[in-house]
Amino acid sequence: MAILVLGGAGYIGSHTVYELIGSGADVVVADNLETGHREAVHPQARFYQGDIRSRDFLDRLFQQEAIDAVIHFAANSLVGESMMNPLKYYDNNLCGTKVLLEAMVAHNVRKIVFSSTAATYGEPVNIPILETDPAHPTNTYGETKLAMERMFHWVGKAHGLRYVSLRYFNACGAHKSGKIGEMHQPETHLIPIILQVPLGKRKSVSIYGEDYDTRDGTCVRDYIHVTDLAQAHILAVEYLNRGGESDIFNLGNGVGFTVKEVIECARKVTGHPIPAISAPRRAGDPAQLVASSEKAKNILGWNPQYDDLETIIASAWNFHRKR
Ligand code: UFG
Repeated sequence: MAILVLGGAGYIGSHTVYELIGSGADVVVADNLETGHREAVHPQARFYQGDIRSRDFLDRLFQQEAIDAVIHFAANSLVGESMMNPLKYYDNNLCGTKVLLEAMVAHNVRKIVFSSTAATYGEPVNIPILETDPAHPTNTYGETKLAMERMFHWVGKAHGLRYVSLRYFNACGAHKSGKIGEMHQPETHLIPIILQVPLGKRKSVSIYGEDYDTRDGTCVRDYIHVTDLAQAHILAVEYLNRGGESDIFNLGNGVGFTVKEVIECARKVTGHPIPAISAPRRAGDPAQLVASSEKAKNILGWNPQYDDLETIIASAWNFHRKR
């Protein structure tokens, strides 16, 4: 039986496919290639181009392949964009997941691991954030991911489907081979934007807000290496295979860095002065997001390997320089 990776040509999806194939799994990838890259799909995975909002596409896929579990990355994930175009997020993230769940129930596929996000919490009440903390998203992206989690909950109750929702904090870094990494078009994420300066693609990096209630006034985020995130998906599938109950897990390092600290670290890694300029706050940004991942460590047996920001940025730098 194969594992179906939806959105397996995207950033976190493609890294997960590499880890799955490395672990000996049989992998099928589906992606509409709207933001994903065909060349990022591992050559040993069977690839189908199509959209999860198409029931016909999903029916053909489930008929053609013997799928045991689904890992679902096929969603839009930009905080800023979600505030400007909320309906795009309701359409792809929520409506897409509705069609997917209908197809899974119809084809008797009952296990799913799902990309959720720290953005479900909104402004946290505690740092580090626990899975039991209140979830009040401050942006449309987080709102749609929270609604997707609730959809899994109710569909699970009605149809015996089990899910693991993985709430990622800030995914970053690149595969150790340098073959795959983060490449969005246009790029909006902090670390790849910073690295565009030493690559000569931009003159400076803008700091979105320096008046937050944090140690240097800039937003604090918990940066977690994409390969560590990928490993968590394999552990989540194993957990469901062992009969584990539906559950939600944070995935982060438990250490927060400000935007200014990330820029400083990138200066050290690249040896480039990387000029930074002050810019207004970006809509929807909470001041601080730092995870407690104790639950994933205790229950899934997750053991992140890349806990050092310099190593993480160096892996991203290695990928971008090779390109
Ligand atoms: N930032 C800048 N300048 C930039 C880009 C970003 O100052 O040019 C700041 C942002 O305002 C934010 C921080 O850098 O404070 C990180 O921004 P990213 O866009 O890299 O990431 P986000 O924190 O907005 O969002 C990411 C994922 C979400 C996830 C969230 C959880 O995109 O899917 O992390 O922390 F929900």
